[in-house]
Amino acid sequence: MGAGKSTLGPELADRLGRPFVSVDAVVEERTGSTVAELFAERGQEAFRELEERFAIESLTRRLPAVVELGGGALGAEPTRIALAEHAFTVLLETTPEEAWERVSPGGRPLARDHEDFRTLFEERTPLYEAVADGHAHDADGVVLAASGIHIWEGAADGLGGLAPGTGAIALVVDAGVEPLHGERVRRALGERLTAFHVVPAGEQGKSVAEAERLWSSLRLDREGTVMVLGGGSTIDLAGFVAASYLRGVAWVPVPTTLVAQVDAAIGGKTAVDLERGKNLVGAFHWPTRIVIDPELLTTLPPEELENGLAEVVKTGLLAGEPFWELALPEQVRRCAAFKAAVCLRDPLDRAERAQLNLGHTFAHALETASGYTLPHGRAVALGLLAALRLSGLEDDAVLVEKLLHPELARVDRDAAWAALAADKKTVDGRSRLVLLEKPGKPTLGVELEEREIRAALDALII
Ligand SMILES: NC(=O)c1ccc[n+]([C@@H]2O[C@H](COP(=O)([O-])OP(=O)(O)OC[C@H]3O[C@@H](n4cnc5c(N)ncnc54)[C@H](O)[C@@H]3O)[C@@H](O)[C@H]2O)c1
Repeated sequence: MGAGKSTLGPELADRLGRPFVSVDAVVEERTGSTVAELFAERGQEAFRELEERFAIESLTRRLPAVVELGGGALGAEPTRIALAEHAFTVLLETTPEEAWERVSPGGRPLARDHEDFRTLFEERTPLYEAVADGHAHDADGVVLAASGIHIWEGAADGLGGLAPGTGAIALVVDAGVEPLHGERVRRALGERLTAFHVVPAGEQGKSVAEAERLWSSLRLDREGTVMVLGGGSTIDLAGFVAASYLRGVAWVPVPTTLVAQVDAAIGGKTAVDLERGKNLVGAFHWPTRIVIDPELLTTLPPEELENGLAEVVKTGLLAGEPFWELALPEQVRRCAAFKAAVCLRDPLDRAERAQLNLGHTFAHALETASGYTLPHGRAVALGLLAALRLSGLEDDAVLVEKLLHPELARVDRDAAWAALAADKKTVDGRSRLVLLEKPGKPTLGVELEEREIRAALDALII
């Protein structure tokens, strides 16, 4: 009571694209009386019976929903069982003082006396703790908890406790990261760590040959977990290996680059590259947990941070919030939550997840034309410029120039145009672009005249 459920619930439902169901509202609608009237006229026990019936009905609906459940409902064992079986339960953290401030003006039946309220709060807390699958204090926190994302500075030291189940853990580490953070992570995993595999640093490791080397050397059974320490390349590789080894074992990425913390580790897309192109063989395999420790970024070279900043700016433009102005750990938290919500709405990338490609059609074309010598962050920065200019958002394009200082690409124009036309977001020979109506309002599948797109691409090339 007073934790903020009725404010946060609808916001969360909106972000997850799910209906919002308030059990209290269902009780009121079905009985034609308010909760206060039911308490006064029929007594608390009768209210609890109704609440239990409608809570179970709401929790067992066929289609997922965000369900708001009052704290008192947990007194009923059938409700607790329904929660355990059907729901991911998030406890909204609050203090008795905060909760009292919120509820006391409303005169709710159980919020009329400050002392009684505090006693009830303290009595109920252990019950809440017992059913909670996750804890949060805001909508981002709920999205992160529901996505299995654990994020805090120093989280890498707690990896032993965060690894799922009790089975063996095989650690896959990027060769460049191993000397920097390998020892710390191995220590945190303790006895559950049964093997560790070092793979070539960065994109070089994202090959079928490396995947095969891992398949051959892994000795996990179905209870085992593949844990990955590295950037997006190592995560894509090891995630794909986890998706395919024994037809799929649990995996936990521990991202060490900004790109991976805000993007690559989230959403369950895994892949390796072929000679012919990037990410051509892969699978969707949602990680069991994702452990994000912003402290791991302290060793990241500046150019890798810049790559990540381009994704932060992209995410902020999509969310309509200047995430780039926040301190780094909060930037990571907000961006991770934004991407996680989009991916929970569209886990298999069939619809609105396409928004995450903002600027990327141009970026990929420039990267391909450069033979992958153009850093990804610079390509994304240029791609964002093109997308914003085509969206008619000149001011935002100027902002991107100020934030990311993109230098024009030195690539062959025709090669870049050919790469853009071959891009997988092309349907029936026409490029479908992600543009913005305004920050926070992406429009998907926009078809423009070829010459307009070509002009926007040419403007990115020196
Ligand atoms: N699956 C997805 O949804 C998704 C999303 C975005 C990008 N990606 C993929 O991610 C890859 C790019 O990943 P990336 O940008 O994270 O880089 P990366 O994994 O290629 O790593 C870049 C370099 O940074 C080094 N490094 C990593 N962490 C470090 C640290 N903490 N300190 C010092 N050095 C460190 C690595 O050794 C490597 O040399 C691409 O292959 C891209 O396709 C995948």
